[in-house]
Amino acid sequence: MGMRHFLTLLDVTEEEARHILDRAAIIKRKLKAGESHRPLEGKTLGMIFDKSSTRTRVSFEVGMYQLGGHALFLHSDATQLGRGEPVADSARVLSSMCDGIMIRTYGHNIIQKFAEYSKVPVINGLTDLTHPCQILADVLTFEEHRGSIEGKTVAWIGDGNNMAHSWINGAVSFGYKLKLACPKGYRPDEKLLAAARELGADISRSDDPVIAAHKADLVSTDVWASMGQEEEQTEREKAFAGFCVTEGVMTHANPDALFMHCLPAHRGEEVSAGVIDGPQSVVWDQAENRLHAQKALLEFLLSD
Ligand code: CP
Ligand code: NVA
Repeated sequence: MGMRHFLTLLDVTEEEARHILDRAAIIKRKLKAGESHRPLEGKTLGMIFDKSSTRTRVSFEVGMYQLGGHALFLHSDATQLGRGEPVADSARVLSSMCDGIMIRTYGHNIIQKFAEYSKVPVINGLTDLTHPCQILADVLTFEEHRGSIEGKTVAWIGDGNNMAHSWINGAVSFGYKLKLACPKGYRPDEKLLAAARELGADISRSDDPVIAAHKADLVSTDVWASMGQEEEQTEREKAFAGFCVTEGVMTHANPDALFMHCLPAHRGEEVSAGVIDGPQSVVWDQAENRLHAQKALLEFLLSD
């Protein structure tokens, strides 16, 4: 396999996405059985963070360690990138020493530029546009609990943000039906949605959480103000009134529907405490599965 980047889910084929999840399940089983699996011995992943992180940082760092490699935490404030060294120059230099680079940043154009100049695979650890690693973990989690996600119905209630965009791309890769409910003014990117539909994704849209939740097998949401949008919090609270995933909203979903949230969550805003801490919620499995899904992704992209 030549060098590959993972900037969105659509950078891998449907077969490859499925292969990564199959491997994730195997790698997870091995870890739980105490068996070591070290295909990345001697390899280093550089991890560039322009934004905060708990799950992404820890899962990539622990994942590289468990795979026999090493990870470097590079917060932009502590590197020359934060002082204005061009992205292209940083990409040339870092990729001459690391075997892979993970980036969490703002504009998607930044990671695209980095990938253009990188000699090694670049992995998207979240941009303003997408968060593809999260969907690998989320689909792995759904399938552990409920079997194949193909043909199942996923409801997205809330902001048409990076997570919504990744659920949209995931409908192409994994063949679930997606029902979006986003307030006016906070809908997903039209071009990204149109492209997914063009590739065969079954996606419907409304501005009513109950319509989205109706007969869903999985209900998911995310914060109303993402990283970088903190100043819009008050304005967004008004726009998103009525978009809280409550026990009432969940009654419209199938009785065995799961609830997911990429975390961090704001109880009482996008989700009620009763739902996120209730019996339908699988948010802790989702968080743990970031480790297992990303180890499979790292193996896929970085092993010889
Ligand atoms: N879900 C997720 O990416 O979490 P962090 O922001 O903690 O990495
Ligand atoms: N949409 C959120 C996801 C955090 C993991 C954000 O971008 O801040």
